[in-house]
Amino acid sequence: MIIAIDGPAASGKGTLARRLAARYGLPHLDSGLLYRAVAHHLAAHGGDLADAAAAERAARALDPGQLGDPALRTRGAGEGASIVSAHPGVRAALLDFQRSFAATAPGAVIDGRDIGTVICPDADVKIFVTASPEERARRRALELEARGEPADHAAILADVRRRDERDMTRATAPLKPADDAVELDTTALDADGAFAAAVAIVDARTAQRRRA
Ligand code: CDP
Ligand code: CDP
Repeated sequence: MIIAIDGPAASGKGTLARRLAARYGLPHLDSGLLYRAVAHHLAAHGGDLADAAAAERAARALDPGQLGDPALRTRGAGEGASIVSAHPGVRAALLDFQRSFAATAPGAVIDGRDIGTVICPDADVKIFVTASPEERARRRALELEARGEPADHAAILADVRRRDERDMTRATAPLKPADDAVELDTTALDADGAFAAAVAIVDARTAQRRRA
């Protein structure tokens, strides 16, 4: 079973994907980490995020064993990821790894921006998770505060909006729901509520496929 979870920054897709993976006994891939790793590697070697050829080389040399590096979780890495991810060569370089991850038994839960549209167009279940920009900025601020870091709400909201704009308007694999994705608006849901709604979506799809 392949479950594709897409959505904008801080919509809760990562949390949801992790919990669905545990529920259905599937490996989980946070595809955003791949783009974060490319940006981090470039920045650490004095490279320019706007340099498409250098970014593609970094993507081709990527070691998936390094995706656990905590440096990939920073705001800077997320911002850098949204710049390098617009280079078509970077996306092409990361395609095979993601497709093989999904194709390996027993399947996978993968979250990102283009999983249902480009990486796994034949996924068994596609969920497009959304929430208002204000709610997503509030969640990011709470996360920072929980880590004891200062949270400037206005700056975080501006960050969220800038990233939405960049991800939705790029030419290659823009952020958008697949035609057959189920949209899940979590603005008024907590993580438990979103999980329960997603389980209902997965179970309904599975039952539907069994009948077909
Ligand atoms: O992966 P993505 O950036 O979409 O979001 P996340 O890192 O999974 O979630 C951002 C934060 O929102 C986490 O602290 C979650 O606990 C919280 N949250 C959520 O995931 N789902 C909700 N429905 C409400 C809050
Ligand atoms: O957790 P959050 O949504 O803030 O970020 P992420 O999922 O780690 O993604 C960081 C950036 O990588 C996004 O803003 C996208 O530009 C890019 N990305 C992408 O283009 N395609 C994906 N499948 C995943 C991430």
